[in-house]
Amino acid sequence: AQKETPDYRPQYHFTPPKNWTNDPNGLVYSDGKYHLFYQYNPFGNQWGHMSWGHATSTDLINWNHLSLALPEYNNADGSESMIFSGSAVVDKQNSSGFFTKGQTNGLVAIYTAFVHRNLAPIYQHQNLAYSGDDGKTWQYYKQNPVLDLKSKDFRDPKVFWYAPQQKWVMTVSKADRQQAYFYESHDLKSWKFMSRWGRAGNTARVWECPDLIEVSVQGEKTKKWVLFISSGNPQELYPGMQYFVGEFDGKSFKPDQAYEEPEYVDFGKDFFAGVTFNNAPNDRKILLGWVNDWEYANDIPTGGEWRGAFSVPRELSLKRTAKGFELIQWPVSELKKGQKEAFSTQNLKVTSNYEVPFRGNIFDLELTLKPQQAKVFELKLLQSTDEETVLRYDVSEQTLSLDRTHSGNVSFNPKFASVEKVRVPLKDGKLQLRVLADKSIIEVFAQNGEKTLTDLVFPLKKEGKLSISSSGGESVINLLKINSW
Ligand code: FRU
Repeated sequence: AQKETPDYRPQYHFTPPKNWTNDPNGLVYSDGKYHLFYQYNPFGNQWGHMSWGHATSTDLINWNHLSLALPEYNNADGSESMIFSGSAVVDKQNSSGFFTKGQTNGLVAIYTAFVHRNLAPIYQHQNLAYSGDDGKTWQYYKQNPVLDLKSKDFRDPKVFWYAPQQKWVMTVSKADRQQAYFYESHDLKSWKFMSRWGRAGNTARVWECPDLIEVSVQGEKTKKWVLFISSGNPQELYPGMQYFVGEFDGKSFKPDQAYEEPEYVDFGKDFFAGVTFNNAPNDRKILLGWVNDWEYANDIPTGGEWRGAFSVPRELSLKRTAKGFELIQWPVSELKKGQKEAFSTQNLKVTSNYEVPFRGNIFDLELTLKPQQAKVFELKLLQSTDEETVLRYDVSEQTLSLDRTHSGNVSFNPKFASVEKVRVPLKDGKLQLRVLADKSIIEVFAQNGEKTLTDLVFPLKKEGKLSISSSGGESVINLLKINSW
Protein backbone atom coordinates (compact mmCIF):
# COMPACT_ATOMS: atom_id res chain seq x y z
CA ALA A 1 0.00 0.00 0.00
CA GLN A 2 1.05 3.57 -0.69
CA LYS A 3 2.43 5.19 2.46
CA GLU A 4 1.41 8.77 3.02
CA THR A 5 4.07 11.43 3.65
CA PRO A 6 3.86 12.92 6.16
CA ASP A 7 1.90 10.49 8.26
CA TYR A 8 -1.47 12.00 9.13
CA ARG A 9 -3.19 8.87 10.38
CA PRO A 10 -4.46 9.57 13.90
CA GLN A 11 -3.54 7.17 16.69
CA TYR A 12 -6.51 7.33 19.06
CA HIS A 13 -9.21 8.40 16.63
CA PHE A 14 -10.95 5.84 14.44
CA THR A 15 -9.86 5.55 10.81
CA PRO A 16 -10.68 2.76 8.35
CA PRO A 17 -7.72 0.46 7.60
CA LYS A 18 -7.85 1.75 4.05
CA ASN A 19 -10.09 3.75 1.72
CA TRP A 20 -12.81 6.32 2.23
CA THR A 21 -15.24 6.83 5.08
CA ASN A 22 -17.81 9.49 5.82
CA ASP A 23 -20.60 9.10 8.39
CA PRO A 24 -20.53 6.75 11.38
CA ASN A 25 -23.50 4.37 11.11
CA GLY A 26 -25.30 1.75 13.18
CA LEU A 27 -23.70 2.69 16.51
CA VAL A 28 -24.93 0.13 19.01
CA TYR A 29 -23.77 -1.61 22.17
CA SER A 30 -24.45 -5.32 22.36
CA ASP A 31 -23.04 -8.25 24.33
CA GLY A 32 -20.22 -6.27 25.92
CA LYS A 33 -19.06 -4.56 22.74
CA TYR A 34 -19.59 -1.28 20.98
CA HIS A 35 -20.31 -1.80 17.29
CA LEU A 36 -19.30 0.88 14.85
CA PHE A 37 -20.44 0.69 11.25
CA TYR A 38 -19.46 3.40 8.85
CA GLN A 39 -20.09 4.78 5.37
CA TYR A 40 -17.38 3.08 3.38
CA ASN A 41 -16.09 2.85 -0.17
CA PRO A 42 -14.54 -0.64 -0.49
CA PHE A 43 -12.94 0.36 -3.80
CA GLY A 44 -11.30 3.72 -3.29
CA ASN A 45 -10.32 6.71 -1.22
CA GLN A 46 -13.06 9.04 -2.40
CA TRP A 47 -16.83 8.91 -1.98
CA GLY A 48 -18.45 6.11 -4.01
CA HIS A 49 -19.89 2.56 -3.90
CA MET A 50 -21.23 3.37 -0.45
CA SER A 51 -21.38 0.33 1.81
CA TRP A 52 -21.11 -0.25 5.57
CA GLY A 53 -17.72 -1.08 7.05
CA HIS A 54 -17.61 -2.56 10.55
CA ALA A 55 -15.48 -2.45 13.69
CA THR A 56 -16.01 -3.29 17.36
CA SER A 57 -14.48 -2.10 20.61
CA THR A 58 -14.82 -2.72 24.32
CA ASP A 59 -13.40 0.70 25.28
CA LEU A 60 -14.53 3.02 22.43
CA ILE A 61 -10.89 3.89 21.66
CA ASN A 62 -9.22 0.72 20.39
CA TRP A 63 -11.13 -0.71 17.43
CA ASN A 64 -11.06 -4.17 16.03
CA HIS A 65 -11.59 -4.05 12.26
CA LEU A 66 -14.05 -6.55 10.84
CA SER A 67 -15.08 -7.48 7.32
CA LEU A 68 -17.49 -5.47 5.20
CA ALA A 69 -20.98 -5.68 6.73
CA LEU A 70 -23.35 -4.29 4.11
CA PRO A 71 -22.13 -4.13 0.50
CA GLU A 72 -23.95 -2.21 -2.26
CA TYR A 73 -26.13 -4.40 -4.50
CA ASN A 74 -27.91 -4.64 -7.87
CA ASN A 75 -31.68 -4.69 -8.10
CA ALA A 76 -33.80 -6.90 -10.36
CA ASP A 77 -34.82 -3.94 -12.54
CA GLY A 78 -31.21 -3.08 -13.35
CA SER A 79 -30.94 -0.22 -10.88
CA GLU A 80 -28.36 -0.30 -8.08
CA SER A 81 -28.58 0.40 -4.36
CA MET A 82 -25.86 2.00 -2.32
CA ILE A 83 -26.08 1.59 1.45
CA PHE A 84 -26.44 5.09 2.86
CA SER A 85 -26.44 6.09 6.51
CA GLY A 86 -28.64 4.54 9.18
CA SER A 87 -28.70 2.93 12.59
CA ALA A 88 -28.73 -0.45 14.30
CA VAL A 89 -30.70 -1.86 17.22
CA VAL A 90 -30.53 -4.93 19.44
CA ASP A 91 -33.85 -6.69 18.89
CA LYS A 92 -33.95 -8.16 22.41
CA GLN A 93 -37.50 -9.53 22.13
CA ASN A 94 -37.09 -10.76 18.56
CA SER A 95 -39.88 -8.36 17.57
CA SER A 96 -38.86 -8.70 13.93
CA GLY A 97 -39.03 -12.50 13.96
CA PHE A 98 -35.68 -12.58 12.15
CA PHE A 99 -33.97 -14.61 14.88
CA THR A 100 -34.29 -17.97 16.55
CA LYS A 101 -36.85 -18.31 19.32
CA GLY A 102 -35.59 -16.82 22.57
CA GLN A 103 -32.55 -15.14 20.99
CA THR A 104 -31.95 -11.81 22.72
CA ASN A 105 -28.96 -10.41 20.84
CA GLY A 106 -30.12 -10.22 17.23
CA LEU A 107 -28.95 -7.07 15.47
CA VAL A 108 -31.11 -5.21 12.96
CA ALA A 109 -29.68 -2.46 10.76
CA ILE A 110 -32.03 0.15 9.37
CA TYR A 111 -30.39 1.92 6.43
CA THR A 112 -31.27 4.13 3.49
CA ALA A 113 -30.87 2.57 0.08
CA PHE A 114 -29.81 5.14 -2.47
CA VAL A 115 -31.36 3.64 -5.59
CA HIS A 116 -29.74 4.91 -8.77
CA ARG A 117 -28.85 4.15 -12.37
CA ASN A 118 -25.27 5.14 -13.15
CA LEU A 119 -25.49 7.50 -10.20
CA ALA A 120 -28.64 9.20 -11.51
CA PRO A 121 -30.87 9.24 -8.38
CA ILE A 122 -34.15 7.29 -8.44
CA TYR A 123 -35.22 6.91 -4.79
CA GLN A 124 -33.99 7.00 -1.25
CA HIS A 125 -35.95 4.60 0.94
CA GLN A 126 -35.57 2.73 4.24
CA ASN A 127 -34.52 -0.92 4.44
CA LEU A 128 -33.52 -3.64 6.88
CA ALA A 129 -30.65 -6.06 7.23
CA TYR A 130 -30.16 -8.44 10.13
CA SER A 131 -27.48 -10.47 11.83
CA GLY A 132 -27.93 -13.31 14.31
CA ASP A 133 -24.20 -13.78 14.89
CA ASP A 134 -23.12 -10.54 16.54
CA GLY A 135 -22.72 -8.63 13.29
CA LYS A 136 -20.34 -11.07 11.61
CA THR A 137 -22.70 -11.95 8.74
CA TRP A 138 -25.73 -10.08 7.47
CA GLN A 139 -28.84 -10.84 5.43
CA TYR A 140 -30.86 -8.27 3.55
CA TYR A 141 -34.59 -8.46 4.33
CA LYS A 142 -36.36 -9.98 1.29
CA GLN A 143 -39.28 -7.58 1.49
CA ASN A 144 -37.28 -4.37 1.47
CA PRO A 145 -37.95 -1.47 1.39
CA VAL A 146 -39.88 -1.11 4.64
CA LEU A 147 -40.55 2.60 4.23
CA ASP A 148 -40.79 4.29 0.88
CA LEU A 149 -42.13 7.75 -0.01
CA LYS A 150 -40.78 7.51 -3.58
CA SER A 151 -38.66 10.47 -2.62
CA LYS A 152 -35.16 11.35 -3.73
CA ASP A 153 -34.35 13.04 -0.42
CA PHE A 154 -35.49 10.80 2.41
CA ARG A 155 -32.65 9.36 4.43
CA ASP A 156 -30.58 8.48 7.51
CA PRO A 157 -33.08 6.61 9.75
CA LYS A 158 -32.20 6.53 13.44
CA VAL A 159 -34.31 3.89 15.21
CA PHE A 160 -34.50 3.58 19.00
CA TRP A 161 -36.61 1.68 21.53
CA TYR A 162 -39.21 3.89 23.20
CA ALA A 163 -39.79 2.01 26.45
CA PRO A 164 -42.85 3.94 27.81
CA GLN A 165 -44.91 2.68 24.85
CA GLN A 166 -42.94 -0.52 24.16
CA LYS A 167 -42.32 0.37 20.52
CA TRP A 168 -39.64 1.36 18.04
CA VAL A 169 -39.41 4.98 16.94
CA MET A 170 -37.67 6.12 13.77
CA THR A 171 -36.37 9.64 13.23
CA VAL A 172 -35.58 10.14 9.56
CA SER A 173 -34.75 13.17 7.47
CA LYS A 174 -36.80 14.69 4.68
CA ALA A 175 -33.55 16.34 3.75
CA ASP A 176 -34.72 18.84 1.13
CA ARG A 177 -37.56 20.09 3.36
CA GLN A 178 -35.32 20.53 6.42
CA GLN A 179 -37.65 18.36 8.48
CA ALA A 180 -37.36 15.30 10.67
CA TYR A 181 -40.15 12.75 10.26
CA PHE A 182 -41.14 10.43 13.10
CA TYR A 183 -42.52 6.91 12.59
CA GLU A 184 -43.45 4.05 14.94
CA SER A 185 -43.30 0.29 14.61
CA HIS A 186 -43.74 -2.86 16.69
CA ASP A 187 -41.78 -5.21 14.43
CA LEU A 188 -39.30 -2.94 12.61
CA LYS A 189 -40.97 -4.05 9.36
CA SER A 190 -44.11 -1.94 9.17
CA TRP A 191 -43.84 1.73 9.95
CA LYS A 192 -46.58 4.21 10.73
CA PHE A 193 -46.15 7.97 10.30
CA MET A 194 -46.59 9.95 13.54
CA SER A 195 -45.43 13.54 13.02
CA ARG A 196 -42.88 15.84 11.48
CA TRP A 197 -40.90 18.80 12.76
CA GLY A 198 -38.30 21.17 11.39
CA ARG A 199 -37.69 24.30 9.34
CA ALA A 200 -36.18 25.94 12.41
CA GLY A 201 -32.67 26.96 13.35
CA ASN A 202 -30.32 26.91 10.40
CA THR A 203 -31.98 25.82 7.14
CA ALA A 204 -29.29 26.95 4.71
CA ARG A 205 -28.48 23.38 3.61
CA VAL A 206 -30.23 20.00 3.47
CA TRP A 207 -30.89 18.35 6.83
CA GLU A 208 -29.14 15.00 7.31
CA CYS A 209 -28.44 12.37 9.96
CA PRO A 210 -31.14 13.24 12.54
CA ASP A 211 -30.88 11.72 16.02
CA LEU A 212 -33.46 12.10 18.80
CA ILE A 213 -32.27 11.08 22.27
CA GLU A 214 -33.13 11.67 25.90
CA VAL A 215 -30.27 13.33 27.80
CA SER A 216 -29.75 13.87 31.55
CA VAL A 217 -29.50 17.33 33.02
CA GLN A 218 -26.39 17.72 35.22
CA GLY A 219 -27.10 17.67 38.93
CA GLU A 220 -30.82 16.99 38.48
CA LYS A 221 -33.11 14.06 37.94
CA THR A 222 -34.55 15.84 34.91
CA LYS A 223 -34.07 14.53 31.39
CA LYS A 224 -34.78 16.40 28.20
CA TRP A 225 -35.10 15.28 24.59
CA VAL A 226 -32.47 16.54 22.19
CA LEU A 227 -32.83 16.45 18.42
CA PHE A 228 -29.53 16.54 16.55
CA ILE A 229 -29.44 17.56 12.90
CA SER A 230 -26.43 17.57 10.63
CA SER A 231 -26.77 20.85 8.80
CA GLY A 232 -25.63 24.39 9.31
CA ASN A 233 -22.45 25.93 10.63
CA PRO A 234 -21.78 29.22 12.35
CA GLN A 235 -19.41 29.74 9.40
CA GLU A 236 -22.07 30.40 6.83
CA LEU A 237 -22.81 27.72 4.24
CA TYR A 238 -20.46 25.09 5.60
CA PRO A 239 -21.82 21.81 6.93
CA GLY A 240 -22.00 21.33 10.67
CA MET A 241 -24.40 20.23 13.36
CA GLN A 242 -27.14 21.88 15.37
CA TYR A 243 -29.34 20.70 18.22
CA PHE A 244 -32.80 21.45 19.55
CA VAL A 245 -33.89 20.76 23.13
CA GLY A 246 -37.50 19.93 23.92
CA GLU A 247 -40.01 17.25 24.79
CA PHE A 248 -41.05 14.03 23.06
CA ASP A 249 -44.25 12.25 24.08
CA GLY A 250 -43.79 9.17 21.92
CA LYS A 251 -45.49 10.86 19.01
CA SER A 252 -44.10 14.31 18.34
CA PHE A 253 -41.16 16.53 19.20
CA LYS A 254 -41.89 19.92 20.76
CA PRO A 255 -38.92 22.25 21.13
CA ASP A 256 -38.71 24.44 24.24
CA GLN A 257 -38.10 27.54 22.14
CA ALA A 258 -38.46 28.77 18.55
CA TYR A 259 -34.76 28.46 17.75
CA GLU A 260 -34.64 31.53 15.54
CA GLU A 261 -31.00 31.52 16.63
CA PRO A 262 -29.56 28.06 15.99
CA GLU A 263 -27.62 26.18 18.67
CA TYR A 264 -24.52 24.55 17.24
CA VAL A 265 -22.89 21.36 18.42
CA ASP A 266 -19.34 22.26 17.37
CA PHE A 267 -17.76 25.49 16.17
CA GLY A 268 -15.04 24.07 13.94
CA LYS A 269 -15.43 23.12 10.31
CA ASP A 270 -14.82 19.43 10.78
CA PHE A 271 -17.54 17.89 12.88
CA PHE A 272 -20.44 16.39 10.96
CA ALA A 273 -22.87 13.47 10.75
CA GLY A 274 -22.56 12.87 14.51
CA VAL A 275 -24.93 10.28 15.95
CA THR A 276 -25.16 8.45 19.29
CA PHE A 277 -24.91 4.81 20.37
CA ASN A 278 -28.09 2.86 20.96
CA ASN A 279 -28.34 0.67 24.05
CA ALA A 280 -25.14 1.93 25.70
CA PRO A 281 -24.65 0.77 29.32
CA ASN A 282 -25.74 2.99 32.23
CA ASP A 283 -27.85 5.04 29.84
CA ARG A 284 -24.69 6.72 28.53
CA LYS A 285 -25.23 9.02 25.57
CA ILE A 286 -22.14 8.89 23.40
CA LEU A 287 -21.77 10.96 20.26
CA LEU A 288 -19.38 10.14 17.44
CA GLY A 289 -18.88 12.51 14.50
CA TRP A 290 -17.08 12.47 11.18
CA VAL A 291 -14.06 14.82 11.31
CA ASN A 292 -14.34 16.32 7.85
CA ASP A 293 -16.30 18.78 5.77
CA TRP A 294 -18.14 18.05 2.51
CA GLU A 295 -16.78 21.32 1.07
CA TYR A 296 -13.33 19.70 0.72
CA ALA A 297 -13.71 16.17 2.11
CA ASN A 298 -12.63 14.35 -1.07
CA ASP A 299 -9.43 16.42 -1.35
CA ILE A 300 -7.88 16.19 2.11
CA PRO A 301 -4.22 15.20 1.69
CA THR A 302 -4.09 12.05 3.81
CA GLY A 303 -2.24 10.19 1.09
CA GLY A 304 -3.28 7.20 -0.97
CA GLU A 305 -4.23 4.81 1.78
CA TRP A 306 -7.21 6.15 3.66
CA ARG A 307 -9.41 9.20 3.93
CA GLY A 308 -11.75 10.09 6.79
CA ALA A 309 -11.69 9.80 10.59
CA PHE A 310 -14.10 10.01 13.51
CA SER A 311 -13.99 12.25 16.55
CA VAL A 312 -13.22 10.99 20.00
CA PRO A 313 -16.46 9.54 21.41
CA ARG A 314 -18.13 12.31 23.42
CA GLU A 315 -20.23 11.77 26.51
CA LEU A 316 -23.27 14.04 26.43
CA SER A 317 -25.18 15.82 29.16
CA LEU A 318 -27.20 19.01 29.50
CA LYS A 319 -26.69 21.98 31.76
CA ARG A 320 -29.51 24.22 32.89
CA THR A 321 -28.91 27.89 32.05
CA ALA A 322 -30.97 31.07 32.34
CA LYS A 323 -31.97 30.60 28.68
CA GLY A 324 -32.79 26.90 28.72
CA PHE A 325 -30.51 23.91 28.37
CA GLU A 326 -27.02 23.81 26.99
CA LEU A 327 -25.32 20.73 25.50
CA ILE A 328 -22.16 19.60 27.29
CA GLN A 329 -19.70 17.30 25.51
CA TRP A 330 -16.73 15.58 27.10
CA PRO A 331 -14.34 12.90 25.84
CA VAL A 332 -15.36 9.50 27.23
CA SER A 333 -13.39 8.62 30.37
CA GLU A 334 -11.93 5.58 28.55
CA LEU A 335 -9.60 7.98 26.73
CA LYS A 336 -7.56 8.47 29.93
CA LYS A 337 -6.74 4.77 30.10
CA GLY A 338 -3.09 4.11 29.33
CA GLN A 339 -2.17 7.80 29.23
CA LYS A 340 1.05 8.97 30.86
CA GLU A 341 1.79 12.42 32.15
CA ALA A 342 4.36 13.98 29.83
CA PHE A 343 4.55 17.42 31.42
CA SER A 344 2.78 19.52 34.01
CA THR A 345 3.16 22.86 35.70
CA GLN A 346 1.16 25.11 38.00
CA ASN A 347 0.92 28.79 38.88
CA LEU A 348 3.24 30.04 36.21
CA LYS A 349 3.26 33.69 35.11
CA VAL A 350 3.47 34.34 31.37
CA THR A 351 4.65 37.81 30.44
CA SER A 352 5.43 37.30 26.77
CA ASN A 353 6.21 33.86 25.36
CA TYR A 354 6.58 30.60 27.23
CA GLU A 355 8.05 27.63 25.35
CA VAL A 356 6.49 24.54 26.86
CA PRO A 357 9.15 21.86 27.36
CA PHE A 358 7.17 19.31 25.39
CA ARG A 359 7.14 18.25 21.77
CA GLY A 360 4.64 16.05 20.10
CA ASN A 361 1.61 15.77 17.87
CA ILE A 362 -0.34 13.16 19.85
CA PHE A 363 -1.53 14.43 23.22
CA ASP A 364 -4.36 15.24 25.60
CA LEU A 365 -3.77 18.65 27.16
CA GLU A 366 -5.51 20.48 29.97
CA LEU A 367 -4.98 24.16 30.55
CA THR A 368 -6.55 26.53 33.04
CA LEU A 369 -5.47 30.08 32.44
CA LYS A 370 -6.27 33.43 33.98
CA PRO A 371 -5.65 36.35 31.60
CA GLN A 372 -5.34 38.98 34.39
CA GLN A 373 -4.04 42.06 32.51
CA ALA A 374 -3.52 40.27 29.18
CA LYS A 375 -5.59 41.33 26.19
CA VAL A 376 -4.89 38.27 24.08
CA PHE A 377 -3.25 34.99 24.81
CA GLU A 378 -2.35 32.20 22.44
CA LEU A 379 -1.68 28.52 22.71
CA LYS A 380 0.38 27.52 19.70
CA LEU A 381 0.33 23.87 18.73
CA LEU A 382 2.14 21.71 16.19
CA GLN A 383 4.66 24.49 15.80
CA SER A 384 7.82 24.59 13.72
CA THR A 385 9.82 27.52 12.35
CA ASP A 386 7.13 28.39 9.80
CA GLU A 387 4.02 26.46 10.81
CA GLU A 388 1.61 26.67 13.71
CA THR A 389 -1.97 25.99 14.67
CA VAL A 390 -3.09 28.76 17.00
CA LEU A 391 -5.75 28.75 19.68
CA ARG A 392 -6.31 32.40 20.47
CA TYR A 393 -8.34 33.93 23.28
CA ASP A 394 -9.41 37.54 22.96
CA VAL A 395 -10.20 38.88 26.43
CA SER A 396 -12.25 41.93 25.43
CA GLU A 397 -14.32 39.95 22.91
CA GLN A 398 -14.40 36.85 25.13
CA THR A 399 -13.89 34.75 22.03
CA LEU A 400 -11.85 31.66 21.39
CA SER A 401 -10.60 31.05 17.88
CA LEU A 402 -8.73 28.29 16.15
CA ASP A 403 -6.49 29.52 13.36
CA ARG A 404 -5.19 26.94 10.90
CA THR A 405 -4.16 29.38 8.18
CA HIS A 406 -0.47 28.59 8.87
CA SER A 407 -0.93 25.00 10.00
CA GLY A 408 0.91 23.34 7.10
CA ASN A 409 -0.74 22.20 3.88
CA VAL A 410 -3.75 24.48 3.45
CA SER A 411 -3.58 24.84 -0.33
CA PHE A 412 -5.21 21.55 -1.42
CA ASN A 413 -8.59 23.26 -1.46
CA PRO A 414 -9.42 27.01 -1.39
CA LYS A 415 -12.08 26.46 1.28
CA PHE A 416 -9.73 24.86 3.79
CA ALA A 417 -7.58 27.66 5.27
CA SER A 418 -9.68 29.26 7.96
CA VAL A 419 -10.09 30.80 11.38
CA GLU A 420 -13.03 29.59 13.47
CA LYS A 421 -14.35 31.65 16.33
CA VAL A 422 -16.76 31.09 19.19
CA ARG A 423 -17.83 33.18 22.15
CA VAL A 424 -16.58 31.66 25.39
CA PRO A 425 -17.08 33.83 28.48
CA LEU A 426 -14.45 33.55 31.22
CA LYS A 427 -15.58 31.91 34.46
CA ASP A 428 -14.18 33.41 37.66
CA GLY A 429 -11.82 35.18 35.29
CA LYS A 430 -10.53 31.86 33.93
CA LEU A 431 -10.55 29.87 30.75
CA GLN A 432 -10.43 26.11 30.99
CA LEU A 433 -9.39 24.17 27.88
CA ARG A 434 -8.94 20.55 27.02
CA VAL A 435 -7.16 20.11 23.72
CA LEU A 436 -6.84 16.77 21.98
CA ALA A 437 -4.24 16.60 19.24
CA ASP A 438 -3.80 13.53 17.08
CA LYS A 439 -1.51 14.29 14.12
CA SER A 440 -4.18 15.72 11.78
CA ILE A 441 -7.04 16.27 14.24
CA ILE A 442 -7.50 19.03 16.82
CA GLU A 443 -10.50 18.80 19.15
CA VAL A 444 -10.97 21.60 21.66
CA PHE A 445 -13.33 21.41 24.64
CA ALA A 446 -13.71 24.80 26.31
CA GLN A 447 -15.07 25.52 29.82
CA ASN A 448 -15.53 21.85 30.68
CA GLY A 449 -17.27 20.96 27.43
CA GLU A 450 -19.64 23.90 27.04
CA LYS A 451 -18.19 24.72 23.63
CA THR A 452 -16.24 22.49 21.28
CA LEU A 453 -14.20 23.24 18.21
CA THR A 454 -12.95 20.52 15.87
CA ASP A 455 -10.64 21.06 12.93
CA LEU A 456 -8.37 19.08 10.66
CA VAL A 457 -4.77 20.25 10.17
CA PHE A 458 -2.03 18.96 7.89
CA PRO A 459 1.37 20.09 9.24
CA LEU A 460 4.25 19.46 6.86
CA LYS A 461 6.92 19.71 9.56
CA LYS A 462 7.26 17.36 12.48
CA GLU A 463 8.77 19.48 15.26
CA GLY A 464 5.51 19.63 17.19
CA LYS A 465 6.55 22.50 19.45
CA LEU A 466 4.15 24.06 21.87
CA SER A 467 4.11 27.54 23.36
CA ILE A 468 1.88 29.94 25.24
CA SER A 469 2.04 33.66 24.80
CA SER A 470 0.40 36.59 26.46
CA SER A 471 0.14 40.07 25.02
CA GLY A 472 -0.96 43.37 26.48
CA GLY A 473 -0.15 42.17 29.99
CA GLU A 474 0.55 39.19 32.14
CA SER A 475 -1.46 35.94 32.35
CA VAL A 476 -1.22 33.14 34.85
CA ILE A 477 -1.24 29.49 33.95
CA ASN A 478 -3.08 27.96 36.89
CA LEU A 479 -2.59 24.50 35.51
CA LEU A 480 -1.04 22.97 32.42
CA LYS A 481 -0.99 19.22 32.12
CA ILE A 482 -0.03 17.27 29.02
CA ASN A 483 -0.71 13.59 28.79
CA SER A 484 0.45 11.31 26.03
CA TRP A 485 0.57 7.57 25.42
C1 FRU B 1 -24.20 12.75 5.16
C2 FRU B 1 -24.72 11.92 4.00
C3 FRU B 1 -25.99 11.21 4.40
C4 FRU B 1 -26.01 10.05 3.46
C5 FRU B 1 -24.55 9.70 3.36
C6 FRU B 1 -24.13 9.17 2.02
O1 FRU B 1 -22.84 12.93 5.16
O2 FRU B 1 -24.91 12.75 2.89
O3 FRU B 1 -27.14 12.02 4.33
O4 FRU B 1 -26.79 8.99 3.94
O5 FRU B 1 -23.83 10.87 3.65
O6 FRU B 1 -22.82 8.73 2.01
